[in-house]
Amino acid sequence: MMQYGGDYNPEQWPEEVWPDDVARMREAGVTMVSLGIFAWSRIQPAEGVFNFGWLDRVIDLLHEGGIAVDLATATASPPPWASAIYPELLPSDENGAVYWPGSRQQFAPTSPVYRRLAAELVTRLAERYAAHPAVTMWHVNNEYGCHLNLDYSDAARDAFRVWLEDRFGTIAELNEAWGTYFWSQRYSSFAEVFPPRKAPYSHNPAQLIDFRRFTSDALLECYLMEKRIIRASGATQPITTNFMGAFKPADYWRWAQEMDVITDDCYPDPNDPESFRAAAFQRDLMRSLKPHVPWLLMEQASNALNWRPTNAPKAPGQMAALSMQAVARGADGILFFQWRQSRSGAEKFHSAMLPHAGTDTRTWREVVALGAELGDLPDLPVGARDATVAIVFDWENWWAIESPDHPVVLDYLALVQRWYAAAHRQHVQVDLVRASADLTGYRLVIAPQLYLLRDDGAANLSDFVSSGGQLLMTAFSDVVDEFDRFRPGGYLTQLGGLLGVGVEDFGALVPPDSAGPGQSQAPISSPAGEIVGTLLAEEIHASDATIVGTFVGGRLNGRPAFTVNSVGSGRAWYLATIPDAVGTGSLLAYLFTEAGIDPVLAGLPTSVEVARRGDVVTVINHDSTPVSVTVVGTDLLTGENVESFVLPAFGYRFIQSPEVSREA
Ligand code: GLA
Repeated sequence: MMQYGGDYNPEQWPEEVWPDDVARMREAGVTMVSLGIFAWSRIQPAEGVFNFGWLDRVIDLLHEGGIAVDLATATASPPPWASAIYPELLPSDENGAVYWPGSRQQFAPTSPVYRRLAAELVTRLAERYAAHPAVTMWHVNNEYGCHLNLDYSDAARDAFRVWLEDRFGTIAELNEAWGTYFWSQRYSSFAEVFPPRKAPYSHNPAQLIDFRRFTSDALLECYLMEKRIIRASGATQPITTNFMGAFKPADYWRWAQEMDVITDDCYPDPNDPESFRAAAFQRDLMRSLKPHVPWLLMEQASNALNWRPTNAPKAPGQMAALSMQAVARGADGILFFQWRQSRSGAEKFHSAMLPHAGTDTRTWREVVALGAELGDLPDLPVGARDATVAIVFDWENWWAIESPDHPVVLDYLALVQRWYAAAHRQHVQVDLVRASADLTGYRLVIAPQLYLLRDDGAANLSDFVSSGGQLLMTAFSDVVDEFDRFRPGGYLTQLGGLLGVGVEDFGALVPPDSAGPGQSQAPISSPAGEIVGTLLAEEIHASDATIVGTFVGGRLNGRPAFTVNSVGSGRAWYLATIPDAVGTGSLLAYLFTEAGIDPVLAGLPTSVEVARRGDVVTVINHDSTPVSVTVVGTDLLTGENVESFVLPAFGYRFIQSPEVSREA
């Protein structure tokens, strides 16, 4: 069943408003609300004092109205009394400056006193509501790591040392892994190690990546602590916390294993005409994190936001189109931040399902219409593994590749999204995977800039090719081990044999607007069409590989740029640069042909999105120009048989079609 609803913050309103809320929710087709996310100070006005009466009443009221509750544990924003009594629970930045109360989320995740207070609150909540029939899901904390990506407090310092001791056992092991004879960094004990606080110059990159790993683990420990408490109370409902798409501080591959259902918050900018593609990436990432369990869009905006410098409204119809995009890409629920627009506070200009201006508004009409449509939509197939193309996206690599002091500054997420966007424009469905994932069933795997490559990832990618898959590796890959050390024997030490190439040097390309004489672009001549290399142009040699394309002009004129090596029935491609957006599209089109990959639907403009869930294909027009679409099947919203139709601006259709199969 499709869920529909939003964050509900009744603590911001007098109790007389609540019955109206429930009545309006029913009018809008709301099935579920996330309750109490920022209600800690209302539930617990002082240490040891709990006030559940109001929460009992609101949960009962929702239940009577047939609205399910995704009950929050309320631990995201400790009340002011908590830090007044225990200032040590406050987090700090890298300069030691404290983040004070007055906003939200001012807690050090590793603070023992924060964890004790959170545990006390969750214990009481779980014991009280575990068996309440209204509660159908648990919403732990909120957007872990948001606002405060990294905490450098004394609590973090102490916990980091314990984490390192667990990881390395002895300080000698840490010294070896971190290469601490460099710059006289050798440690005598774990008590000498700090988080990477402000230092005169670059930190040890191994320390930086371990601090990232530690931070992701520390946040996850908070989640797991609450999850254990909820389960210990006898609660059987699914437990989750809301993700934020590709969010750098938390390794969601690791986190996803601990979620019963993936939930996500997504706020594409209506003023950015390409933001729907980045949103599609985010949806596909959420589906890929837990492919066999439909995810939920936990938060989106009904209209404008408050937190960008300019908060453009959504165009008429755009909110529904973006909602259906999430459904098309595996979501079984659409929720908003928030139900009723706040009267006070920092988010009073943020749109809501029920606007401050009331029900005679476009926003309200669109919210009601969407609720009705979602209610009419039949259950959709799960949509797991419908793609035959996968793009490797890896958090550890993200952390490592963006360390300073590299040949060139790379924005890993943007580079991965460039490949994704090129596939999206060609209407080819894509999954996101880790290098070590089960790759059975994919025909083509693209691994952009896999700088940090672990042994298991390398072995898995090799097996994929040996079993008949096609793999594209790109420049600046297989460079370091998990401690950000070069491996003995140069570069591409793990996959050079598979690829049949060796990398001699990386060769930064200077930015095009740079005043100096350095080369800024590296054009390639190949059967894949127009490709211009950017950022890096590597000096490689082909040992076993066939050279498919060469650099044209500049210092690498005539040298190999694009190669292929056949291994059994599989093929391993290597591109010794990073193609621009146009080149990424050309190259991908070439590889799709080579790997026998067809679009879900062919011949549509790039502003039309196509996605599959099993035998259901969704087409969405993200542009203002109407578009003709041809696909034979049944329209799941109208029940009509269709062959072709016109999609108006922001129009969408869900078509169950025998034509759309995995082998299409
Ligand atoms: C985040 C938070 C919400 C709200 C929205 C505003 O997603 O979880 O509480 O602040 O942003 O867009």
